[in-house]
Amino acid sequence: MAAQVIDGKEFAAEVRGRVAEHVARLKDEHGITPGLAVVLVGEDPASQVYVRSKGKQTVEAGMESFEHKLDASVSQDELLAVVQQLNADPKVHGILVQLPLPAHMNEDLVINAIAPEKDVDGFHISNVGRLGTGQKSMVPCTPLGCLMLLRAQHGSLSGMNAVVLGRSNIVGKPMAQLLLGDSCTVTIAHSRTRDLPEVVRRADIVVAAVGRPEMVPGDWIKPGATVIDVGINRIDAPEKGEGKTRLVGDVDYASAAEVAGAITPVPGGVGPMTIACLLANTLTACCRARNLPEPEGLTA
Ligand code: GUN
Repeated sequence: MAAQVIDGKEFAAEVRGRVAEHVARLKDEHGITPGLAVVLVGEDPASQVYVRSKGKQTVEAGMESFEHKLDASVSQDELLAVVQQLNADPKVHGILVQLPLPAHMNEDLVINAIAPEKDVDGFHISNVGRLGTGQKSMVPCTPLGCLMLLRAQHGSLSGMNAVVLGRSNIVGKPMAQLLLGDSCTVTIAHSRTRDLPEVVRRADIVVAAVGRPEMVPGDWIKPGATVIDVGINRIDAPEKGEGKTRLVGDVDYASAAEVAGAITPVPGGVGPMTIACLLANTLTACCRARNLPEPEGLTA
């Protein structure tokens, strides 16, 4: 039987709608407008597209968007000064420094200069530690989006076998922590994992985040499993014409959709959830800063 297609685009629109409603209430009842600052260093075209999209969706949700575009040649100290200024600005509740940074910068040092309570990416070492120890933290946006999709699909995830493919700090590791927090039995698999197909076949939940196009075929998937595909890979598509490309995930969608119970498509699955969760995190950071109740269902 063909899998149910999990519509991340629709779900993300619903999350943005809930954020916008909460933001409107904050304004009406408390005169507060959540603010998100995005810092972009250099002119990486993909980063420019992301930053534009973030700014647009921030404003559409009724929040304030602050953009700081710095030249690629800016010194690390100058960037740190901008971060310090945003840390001290009461109108800014969330700060995101777009990665990658130019090679002459130390990314860890810059990320750890962000005030942890404003770190809406959840990359600060203090938030990583808090997530790992089950304390209230800011949670990385893409894993949070995956968790929301899984909870919407299953209600409780308790006792399920989850396999996370990929061990990145941005997706794989925090995803595993979140699944553990929801009482899954979690395996993190990676390029050195032995008998990978067998490991994946045990999973009720597969989260694929390895960045290798169509790496997971359908015959690795347990019948009825839920497959969350975080990969966004651009590959040649000669069938569409010379020089054309298309986006694919880390999962071979056609064969996996024959076996899975539910699956996220690429594009239109996890992708749109990331910015929706960034807005949710900005709202959460604002509520925490002002000691107001946090929005329900928008945090881990
Ligand atoms: N570059 C690509 N994705 C991200 C992200 O989620 N956060 C930041 N800060 N930079 C990115």
